Amino acid sequence: MVSLRGLFVTGTDTGVGKTVAAAALMHRYRSGPETTRTPIRYWKPIQTGIAQDDDTAQVRWLGACSDEEIFDRGVRLERPLSPHLAARLSGVTIHLSGITELVGAEPTALRWIVEGAGGVLVPINDSQLMVDLIVALGLPALVVSRTALGTINHTLLTLEALRARSVAVAGVLMNGEPNRENRDAIEKYGGAQVVGELPRLEPLTPEAVARVAGCIAPSDDRLSELLS
Ligand SMILES: Nc1ncnc2c1ncn2[C@@H]1O[C@H](COP(=O)(O)OP(=O)(O)O)[C@@H](O)[C@H]1O
Ligand SMILES: [Mg+2]
Repeated sequence: MVSLRGLFVTGTDTGVGKTVAAAALMHRYRSGPETTRTPIRYWKPIQTGIAQDDDTAQVRWLGACSDEEIFDRGVRLERPLSPHLAARLSGVTIHLSGITELVGAEPTALRWIVEGAGGVLVPINDSQLMVDLIVALGLPALVVSRTALGTINHTLLTLEALRARSVAVAGVLMNGEPNRENRDAIEKYGGAQVVGELPRLEPLTPEAVARVAGCIAPSDDRLSELLS
């Protein structure tokens, strides 16, 4: 167990926009003059399908990150599968202690933007799930969810799973064509705040992500508190 400061970016599914959201968070919370700003750092502790999906490289690009803002260590697996299966097929076992050890000695001044793999109940070994990693890192969770039909159920299930393990929920970030009814339903039935809506960006570039990053928590300072 460690106790990092920052956010664990999880989501209702794979492909839901966690990586784009993480890049937007880097733009959003990097504000302030370089000398006084709290150092912020992106970390992908478990990456499967590394040959085709390198979220670290994607955030480095979309988030216009410096070398210091990227922590590129962790479990890196070839096959584009759930971590438990990608690991088993590579003949390795993912141990939470091996992951927490990587960051245990890092400066306490850092604020972390950690990205999970898949959703919260994705297995990482024979007995543990992604949510156990969230607990082991001691971070509050930001849930990235789609705006489209189906999102209410997926988002509420994710919130329940987090709360069942006493993970603090920092909020929900919705990704896609804005849908007011779905947003309202998530806040009403999920008891969580929607901290922003990321529109579909075409083309998806660092400049476009920087432009919409201000949509995240524009008036609320809950996330700012966690990241400052
Ligand atoms: N707001 C967006 N605008 C344009 N493309 C997006 C947006 N959000 C996600 N995508 C694209 O959708 C795919 C999945 O997004 P990604 O952030 O990688 O999801 P996850 O990290 O949850 O697997 C990627 O190809 C990404 O570029
Ligand atoms: Mg990703």
